[in-house]
Parts: sequence; C-alpha cells; structure tokens
Amino acid sequence: MIQCAEAIVEIKGDLVYKRRIEKRYRVKEIDERIRKERTKSEAKIISEARRKGVPTPIIFDITDYELVMERIEGDLAREVINDAIIERIGELVGILHKNGIIHSDLTTSNIIVGSDNVVYFIDFGLSFIESSTEARGVDVHLFFQSLRGTHESYEQLKLSFIKGYRRTFTNASQVLKRVKEIERRGRYVERK
Ligand SMILES: Nc1ncnc2c1ncn2[C@@H]1O[C@H](COP(=O)(O)OP(=O)(O)O)[C@@H](O)[C@H]1O
Ligand SMILES: [Mg+2]
Repeated sequence: MIQCAEAIVEIKGDLVYKRRIEKRYRVKEIDERIRKERTKSEAKIISEARRKGVPTPIIFDITDYELVMERIEGDLAREVINDAIIERIGELVGILHKNGIIHSDLTTSNIIVGSDNVVYFIDFGLSFIESSTEARGVDVHLFFQSLRGTHESYEQLKLSFIKGYRRTFTNASQVLKRVKEIERRGRYVERK
C-alpha cells in the first residue's frame, strides 16, 4: 500500500485501487465535492490521453472517491531511465500538449516502463485541460526540475526529452523558449 497526501493506492492482483482520502482540515461538504471532482476528472483525462495515443491504464470502475484501474506491470521510469526512454517520454508529453492536456505532475515516478516496453503515464490527479504556452511551459519546467533532483545525467536526458517533444509537437519551440524564461524567473526569485 502506497499512501501520500491525496490518495491511497492499493495493488491487488491485476487491479489498482486509488482512493482519495478525507482531508479533515477541509469543511466536510467541500472536501467531499473536491474528492469526487478529482476522481472523476482523473478518470476522464486518463481515458482521453489514451484515446489520443498516450498509453495509460484502462479504467474499469469509478465510484465517488475511488478509481479501479488496470495494473501496469513493469518498472518506474525512475529506476530504468535512459536516453531512449526519455526521448519516448518527450514524444508522449508532446502528444498530451498537442491535445490540450497538462499533466501537472510529470516525474519519473509517475511514468511506468511496462514489461512490454511500452511507456505508460499514470497519476493524472492534478491534470487539467489547457492550451496555453505558459501551462505547457510550467509542465515541462517542473519535469526538468524533478529530473535534476533524481538523475545524474540530467543535461543529457533533457536533450533527449527535447528531441522527442519536438518530434510530436509542432509548437515545441515556443514552449521550450518559455521554459527558459520560467527558469530565469526562478533564478531571479532565488537571488532576491
Ligand atoms: N495503474 C498502475 N499500475 C501499476 N502501478 C501503479 C498504478 N497506479 C499507481 N501505481 C503505483 O502507485 C504509485 C502511486 O500512484 P499515483 O497514481 O502516482 O498516486 P499519487 O497521487 O499517490 O502519487 C505509483 O507511483 C506507482 O508506483
Ligand atoms: Mg504519483
């Protein structure tokens, strides 16, 4: 069982149960509404991503606070990362962005390299639909930051990601320019 702030994830055989847990600091009615909305929204975007060509787990059931989905057998991208995998991740993020999907929690712990060698995206709990350069730029920027924190060969991985991202997404250059701006903003804030 894996528990973090928002949800409890349980793996039972071929199935994964992801249940959004109560947040006692929120007013009960509001908390229930938020958990229901996020559960529904996650299911919707997971399915939408797959329809657009990004492998994600099949959703079998949705109740108020819980998703039941296909278990992806394999390794977290974090454990097996290499240039080919990160290039593939770049292609898939390009497909998401092209289709107006912002993942919002891109890390190599939210990507599974299946035993079938297919790269799957999971954890769309914070995802939303938006086609702005800023939202896309922040998505890529946060991914780069998480890469820097977890992987030694960060600079090389970043280049491979960009290669894939450009391949599937015609507006890639505009977004990558914005990523550089966001990095500059960040450095400015740190200095102050
Ligand atoms: N469909 C799945 N197949 C296999 N493992 C999964 C699946 N969904 C979640 N996991 C495992 O559970 C962990 C937490 O799930 P995730 O959806 O990322 O929730 P959280 O919001 O808690 O990060 C993942 O990092 C992964 O190890
Ligand atoms: Mg996660």
